[in-house]
Amino acid sequence: MKIGDIHHLTILMKDAVVYMIDQNKLPFIIEVKAFEDYEGTCEAIRNMTVRGAGAIGAAAGFAMAQGFLQGADPEYVRNLIRATRPTARDLFFAVDRVFEAGKISVQTAVDEAQRLAELNVEAARKIGTYGDTLIRDGARILTHCNAGWLGFVDYGSALAPVYIAHRKGKRIHVYADETRPRSQGARLTAWELANEGVEHTIVPDNAGAYLMSKGMVDLVITGADRIAANGDTANKIGTYEKAILARHFGIPFYIAAPRSTFDFETPDGSAIEIEQRSQDEVHYQTGPDRDGKIRTIRVTNPGSEALNPAFDVTPAELITAYITEYGIFNNPADLLQLKNKG
Ligand code: MRU
Repeated sequence: MKIGDIHHLTILMKDAVVYMIDQNKLPFIIEVKAFEDYEGTCEAIRNMTVRGAGAIGAAAGFAMAQGFLQGADPEYVRNLIRATRPTARDLFFAVDRVFEAGKISVQTAVDEAQRLAELNVEAARKIGTYGDTLIRDGARILTHCNAGWLGFVDYGSALAPVYIAHRKGKRIHVYADETRPRSQGARLTAWELANEGVEHTIVPDNAGAYLMSKGMVDLVITGADRIAANGDTANKIGTYEKAILARHFGIPFYIAAPRSTFDFETPDGSAIEIEQRSQDEVHYQTGPDRDGKIRTIRVTNPGSEALNPAFDVTPAELITAYITEYGIFNNPADLLQLKNKG
């Protein structure tokens, strides 16, 4: 990821220490946090210091490797990691791979965690190359949440095609849904796009129908947290609404995700566990005041209850195609070809 002129990774592990950009503080403060043990890395996943399916997959693999390095009970560490966030498939994919590798040796576990992080970058780059073919010069793209650099070790899923198209010189404009309650679109996607010099506009979550009805959106691309065997896709809450709107207005709706997000053991979306997060995320917002002091303020009626499901499931029938590192799949039935890959 480009910050100024320097290339950064969202997360990495060096000498048993996991380093990650603190996404809770972006874009107001750029800080890299270091976690020396699996307990700290687990907590960072839970409190969303690191977030986004690909990035928490890498974090989970690193946490499992740290568990082996610390000589902790592997079964206990695996369960602790699995309990941090339930919806993103990448987390379970990585933790299981590193757990199995650790049965050979501690070094094998560390190597596997590093290999998965490298594959994460490679898959994202390929998703970008395939996805770029769907973007014409002058395209206006709507995206939801953050499935960019910060959601992966690098590049991202939904935004990888955007970055590649932009670097090729295509003129594109991205509408970044604000993505309440945590505002990953307004804070993180907008920050990434600004760093890369991609023309963009932050839009309220409820502006989708307005934009589409005015002919301002050519395609929608989002990432995914878990894709069931029939193609039903869990992603950030609000994604389903965009897919319904896109169908209504005849606009293509694409899901971009690597093999590690596909869960062939889950038959359809109804079996995907949806993470329920604290209602405080709805009630409070954090950011700098006019004097630059970071403050957390209440923005809802004191005493009212809030509901905070973190994801929803878009039925496969609303998805035009899936952009993966193995190519673009228009028919959900063809996704089963991915089962034996990776
Ligand atoms: O709760 P988050 O911020 O981890 O949710 C992120 C998303 O829903 C992204 O759209 C998803 O992970 C796509 S792939 C990075």
